[in-house]
Amino acid sequence: MSGRSREATLIAGDGIGPEITHATLQVLDALGVAFDWDEQYGGMSAVEKAGTPLPDATVDSIRRTRLALKGPLTTPVGGGYRSVNVALRQEFDLYANVRPVKSIVPGGRYPNVDLVVIRENTEGMYTGYDRTFKVGNDPKALAQATSVMTRDGCRRIVCYAFEYAKRHGRKKVTVVHKANILKATSGLFLETAKMIAREYEGQIASDDKIVDNAAMQLVINPAQFDVIVTTNMFGDILSDEASGLVGGLGLAPGANIGERAAIFEAVHGSAPDIAGQGIANPAAQMLAAAMMLDHVGELETAGRLRRAVETAIVKDNVRTKDLGGSASTTEFARAVARRL
Ligand code: NAI
Ligand code: MG
Repeated sequence: MSGRSREATLIAGDGIGPEITHATLQVLDALGVAFDWDEQYGGMSAVEKAGTPLPDATVDSIRRTRLALKGPLTTPVGGGYRSVNVALRQEFDLYANVRPVKSIVPGGRYPNVDLVVIRENTEGMYTGYDRTFKVGNDPKALAQATSVMTRDGCRRIVCYAFEYAKRHGRKKVTVVHKANILKATSGLFLETAKMIAREYEGQIASDDKIVDNAAMQLVINPAQFDVIVTTNMFGDILSDEASGLVGGLGLAPGANIGERAAIFEAVHGSAPDIAGQGIANPAAQMLAAAMMLDHVGELETAGRLRRAVETAIVKDNVRTKDLGGSASTTEFARAVARRL
C-alpha cells in the first residue's frame, strides 16, 4: 500500500472465522498491503476470553480506526445474547449493507449474474423489538416483533443505492418491498424510494418489485437485476439467495458502511458444520478485504486481489469443496498468493 500503513481493527471471529481470516491475511501480505492490525474479539470467542460477546475494547478500537475486517460471529439461536453483528451495525450506525453478487465460476447455472444487494442495515424487523409473553411452556404463549421504519432511514439508504449506481456505472435500481401488505412500514420505504428515483430520472433507471416476486425472478432471470435496494430482513434473505445463484456463500462479500465507520465481512456465518476442518472457502472474506481496499481508495490493489481470486478459481481450478473441488483453505490461499 502506498505511504504509511493504515490502522484497522481485525476480528477473526468464530467457527471458520479464524481459518478464513488467516488465509485472507496471507493473501494481503502477498499483495504487499500493510494494514496495521489491532486485533480484537467478538462473539463466542469474546465470551470465552472476556466474558462478554462485545467487549468495550472492540468497540473502542473500531471507534478509533473507523475501519474493520471482521470474521463471522456466532449468535445463539432462540435464546442467548443478541447478535453482535447487529449490535455493531447499530452502535456505529452502519446503515448501508452492500453485497455484490457476480458469476465467477464458468459453466454455472447462471453465468450472467452481476448485481448488488443494498440492504438497509439499522431499521425494519431487526431493531430488537422482539419479545415473548409467556411463562415456561405456556400453551397460550404469544410473541411479537415490531418493525420500525423512518423517513430519514429510508431516504439515506435509497440515496446511497442511487449514488452507488452512479459511482459504479450501474444502470438500474430495483426497489424491493412488501407495500401491498405492510402498507405503513414497507409503504413508507416505497413512497420515499419513488420520490428519490424521480431525482435520478434520465441518469439511473428504476423500478420496483414486491419481495416474493423478486425472490422468484432472481431464480428465473437474475440478469435483469442490477442494483437492488431493500429493507433489512428482505435484504438479509435475498442476498443469501443471490449468492446461491453464483456458487454459494463462499463467494459472497459484504460491506457495512456508515458515516463514522465501515466494517467488511463475508455474507456467510461461522459455519459450525465445517469449522476446524480447514476446508472453508476463504474467497468471500478475501473479496470483503478487496471491498475494504476500495473503501480506502486502493482501487488498483483491490482489482488485483479480485482478479487473483477469480484466476485461482477459474484458470488454476483450485477450488474448495463448496465449489466442487478438493482444495483446503490454505491451498486456496496459496493459489491466490501465487497469482499476485
Ligand atoms: P452459515 O452461513 O454459517 O452456513 C450456511 C451453510 O453454508 C453451511 O452449510 C456452511 O457450511 C456453508 N458455508 C458458509 N460459509 C462457507 C464457506 N466460507 N465455505 C464453505 N461453506 C460455507 O449460516 P448458519 O449455519 O445459518 O449460521 C451459523 C452461525 O453464524 C449462526 O450463529 C449465525 O447467527 C451466524 N451468522 C453470522 C453472520 C455474521 O457474522 N455476519 C452472518 C450469518 C450468520
Ligand atoms: Mg444473513
